[in-house]
Amino acid sequence: SSTARKTDDGALEVGGVDLRALVAEHGSPAYVLDEADFRSRARAFRDAFAGYDVYYAGKAFLCTTVARWVAEEGLSLDVCSAGELTVALRAGFDPARIGYHGNNKTTAELRRAVTAGVGRVVVDSFQEIERLAAVTRELGATARVLVRVTAGVEAHTHEYIATAHEDQKFGFSITSGDALDAVRRVLDAPGLELRGLHSHIGSQIFDTSGFEVAARRVLSLHAQVSSELGVTMPEMDLGGGFGIAYTTQDDPSDPAQLATELTKIVEHEARALGIEVPELSIEPGRAIVGPAMCTVYEIGTVKEVGLDAGARRTYVSVDGGMSDNIRTALYDADYSCTIASRRSEATPVLGRVVGKHCEAGDIVVKDEFVPGDLVPGDLLAVPGTGAYCRSMASNYNHALRPPVLAVRDGAVTIAVRRETEDDLLRTDVGA
Ligand code: LLP
Repeated sequence: SSTARKTDDGALEVGGVDLRALVAEHGSPAYVLDEADFRSRARAFRDAFAGYDVYYAGKAFLCTTVARWVAEEGLSLDVCSAGELTVALRAGFDPARIGYHGNNKTTAELRRAVTAGVGRVVVDSFQEIERLAAVTRELGATARVLVRVTAGVEAHTHEYIATAHEDQKFGFSITSGDALDAVRRVLDAPGLELRGLHSHIGSQIFDTSGFEVAARRVLSLHAQVSSELGVTMPEMDLGGGFGIAYTTQDDPSDPAQLATELTKIVEHEARALGIEVPELSIEPGRAIVGPAMCTVYEIGTVKEVGLDAGARRTYVSVDGGMSDNIRTALYDADYSCTIASRRSEATPVLGRVVGKHCEAGDIVVKDEFVPGDLVPGDLLAVPGTGAYCRSMASNYNHALRPPVLAVRDGAVTIAVRRETEDDLLRTDVGA
């Protein structure tokens, strides 16, 4: 659970570190990563899902420090690119506990993954199965494989982050027969060891009904493979996607309750099909790292704007924006904010927190009542920015991506340093 609290004079403290002191030393904006909170969420998943393999989804946020925490807490790691794999290996993460995802892995990437000895490759196309088979032949190696399938579920989430309905790029369709075909081809390849099926239905999901439908369809394929091909696949991965609270209206996922529900669902469906329950795994990213980070910004300007019907809105501009948090612009995501540098007794006014980029959609917090006396120099913290913010950050307008500062017991450790203008110019050959 979060170590964030307000000090007596109204400042925000995380991991025993006063954010005023943190900004004074390290500047703003900055992502503040609460180590104890991250570890306790990782542990909560590992403990609640005892008997499952829990893969932390590195796409939500990954750096070597976090990869080491994940290893220390006894979780496995899901990477979905060569870059993520490199970070994991650089951190000394046990390759046997890494799962490698992606819908368009190149031969070179597969070669690296197999050479490194990753524990499983989640295959996503017929071409990839051929490439991977060729790589294992060439290297005289064996790769353990999960076949990613689409369970045909419409998860109730934003269209761009729902991944298990039919008309999207991931996985093999179960209904079309492609998934069964993929299983056959993996079985036919001598260097590939078929471990099972993988399904990921989407992200920021609160309701387990989507998992129920997915489990039923994926397990039916397990049953079909064993009756038609005489092969029992030992594993099934249910993916990630467990939702978190971004604003107080949301309902956070409780790992213990989730584990109970998912296990019950899988046991029930397996019993109905008359098959054994496979070894299960999940891949939570957001639910572990999302709430463990906040972004601290400094306010630069405050502007009041008249709205229709005489209402007014206060535009609070901070020293970051869509380059460090694209989620509001991209997914219409909801965030909240809190003043982090002092107490304010001022009457709240309707506000909007915006960045410093050259477009009107550069919004961090869409609608929030903010203290009516905010001034330049005040610090603002936006909670819940651990997942898909730093990992999706860009250099738009040549912004410098903020550092990730890990806080714990009153101490700050730089996990990822702030970019410099030299970093920006490094790839500009003409500079
Ligand atoms: N496993 C697979 C195969 C995935 O594709 C994903 C996320 C996860 C696990 C982890 O999902 P999580 O537990 O973090 O929800 N950028 C979007 C989310 C994209 C999710 C992509 N895949 C966002 O900011 O909401």
